[in-house]
Amino acid sequence: MSHRTAIAAALLDSKDWFSGEALAAELGISRAAVSKHIRVLAAAGYRIERAPRKGYRLVQAPDRLLPERILADAGAARLCRGGIIHHEETESTNTDARALAEQGAADGTLVVAECQTAGRGRMGRPWVSPAGDGIYASLILRPDMPLHRVPLLTLLTAVAAAEAIRRVTGLSACIKWPNDLLIGNRKVAGVLTEAASEIDAVEFVIVGLGMNVNTPKHKLPPRPLYPATSIRAESGQPVDRLGLLVATLDRFGYWYRRLGADGADSLRQRWLELSGMQGRRIRIQREAITIRGTVDGIDTDGALLLTDSAGRPQRIYSGDILP
Ligand code: BTN
Repeated sequence: MSHRTAIAAALLDSKDWFSGEALAAELGISRAAVSKHIRVLAAAGYRIERAPRKGYRLVQAPDRLLPERILADAGAARLCRGGIIHHEETESTNTDARALAEQGAADGTLVVAECQTAGRGRMGRPWVSPAGDGIYASLILRPDMPLHRVPLLTLLTAVAAAEAIRRVTGLSACIKWPNDLLIGNRKVAGVLTEAASEIDAVEFVIVGLGMNVNTPKHKLPPRPLYPATSIRAESGQPVDRLGLLVATLDRFGYWYRRLGADGADSLRQRWLELSGMQGRRIRIQREAITIRGTVDGIDTDGALLLTDSAGRPQRIYSGDILP
């Protein structure tokens, strides 16, 4: 933990005043260094009161997804061991993460932004990312897995995000194959997974999550099949973006460790529970073709398993499930 992160954590932990002198001694730095870090935190939006002989007191933490606040959570810190890069504005956190990964960024590096000007969705679709309203985050992973199993990481991210939404807000978020999160048939979040590999060995994977959290209705884009929504539009109240991001990272870490230790079975089981798709009759649009069938499950590589209307087993790798 950097000194600045430790000071931010001390501010966030203590409801009362804390002494700059004691903190300086604890961190083994000078009081001048503490006061310099405090000035940087204030410039980043922390409202901090200062009084002689009392020290410092946090009045208000900023509503921003700042690294030191994310790293204050042990689960998130364990997952994001490569560090966190925070942007006020960027084109796309997935594009940033890819560039960083190409330059050798470590496994577990997270890129997070308050706003994206060219956020990308699946199949080249845009992802509307207004400032301060949503979660726009991309994680660099260097997993020891063959390329054909990478789609499992999309399912894993969707499971983590659905569990986090349920935990933090109580809303019944569901998963729609392969990468959407819905609340009552309206789309609240999506996952964009990108990978680079050599022959069959994965070099790195970027999992990008976009979630409409406090996005007001008028900023939500029109969507053809499943209308866009936000957590705030569904719950009727503002939601803590940081809490949702941290909960998602916690759940991601849990499932990622389980995938590494026990394989994909429990993840697939959880995905099926949260998607409610097992045994359901669905239609999938793939380019000009519509496939009808009953869902049998999900395979170890993330493919959707169907029995089509002619009774033939099908493995589906891409497409849009029609409402
Ligand atoms: C989809 O539903 O099609 C996927 C949307 C993924 C959007 C996220 S926002 C963070 C990351 N950066 C991007 O440009 N895209 C992903």
